[in-house]
Amino acid sequence: MSTWLKKCAGLKLFTSRCSYFAQHIKQQAVHQAGILLSCSKMSCGRGALIVLEGVDKAGKTTQCKKLVQALIASGRPAEMMRFPDRTTKIGQLISAYLEKKSNLEDQTVHLLFSANRWELVPEMREKLERGISLVVDRYAFSGVAFTSAKPGFSLEWCMNPDVGLPKPDLVLFLQLHPTAASQRGQFGAERYETSDFQRVVMQRFEHLMKDPSLNWQVIDAAKSIEELHAEIKTHSETAIAMAENQPIGELWK
Ligand SMILES: Nc1ncnc2c1ncn2[C@@H]1O[C@H](COP(=O)(O)OP(=O)(O)OP(=O)(O)O)[C@@H](O)[C@H]1O
Ligand SMILES: [Mg+2]
Repeated sequence: MSTWLKKCAGLKLFTSRCSYFAQHIKQQAVHQAGILLSCSKMSCGRGALIVLEGVDKAGKTTQCKKLVQALIASGRPAEMMRFPDRTTKIGQLISAYLEKKSNLEDQTVHLLFSANRWELVPEMREKLERGISLVVDRYAFSGVAFTSAKPGFSLEWCMNPDVGLPKPDLVLFLQLHPTAASQRGQFGAERYETSDFQRVVMQRFEHLMKDPSLNWQVIDAAKSIEELHAEIKTHSETAIAMAENQPIGELWK
């Protein structure tokens, strides 16, 4: 009897595994078909590099996620990335510093942030060339704005390590007064999360936005999540169409 029960249990496990694999294969097929469909529909050029910047709590992460979902839903392959990417070894050093678990020289931290972007460049290029648009939560602009807000750092020194990174096809700047930003959620215990520091960061961003070689679009982040999303999606669709047949540029070169 017990052998018979064991056989039944084994059979049940086998059937459930078969159904899991069948489901997995089906999902993969649907995914591949989606990419093929979007390629045939849109000539399959390279993807666009879309960056969202702004002060803390401006809504960058919220909008990045919504944008990726909307792009995929409209048949445009897209993926989200964020900087710092805390999953790499360099990212873990940055994370410990931001959480105030370690202390580092300001110069060291700045170079680590930049190295964290450079280490992901091969993966970014590979995805862009496969036609996947990348929606990036903070990029070199945050790196430069934050370090240059510290005393004794010139904008030029801060920009240097990031010269030559893949150039964004679109930089969406979510503009929000630091006082309004601080009301969106309490600033946490991480470094840099004070209104005074954020005010200086904002001035540095304003300086960077004067660069006409980049496609900056300033968005009023005080609007509702849905209103912002609609605006961001429109800008992004235009950038994707423009980027399709252009080579990937080099930042600040
Ligand atoms: N347009 C909006 N109006 C009101 N609240 C918003 C809006 N967008 C986002 N929020 C809320 O503000 C908070 C911060 O949003 P989010 O995490 O997206 O900002 P962020 O710019 O990524 O912040 P951080 O710089 O800390 O990563 C969240 O609680 C979010 O729900
Ligand atoms: Mg965020």
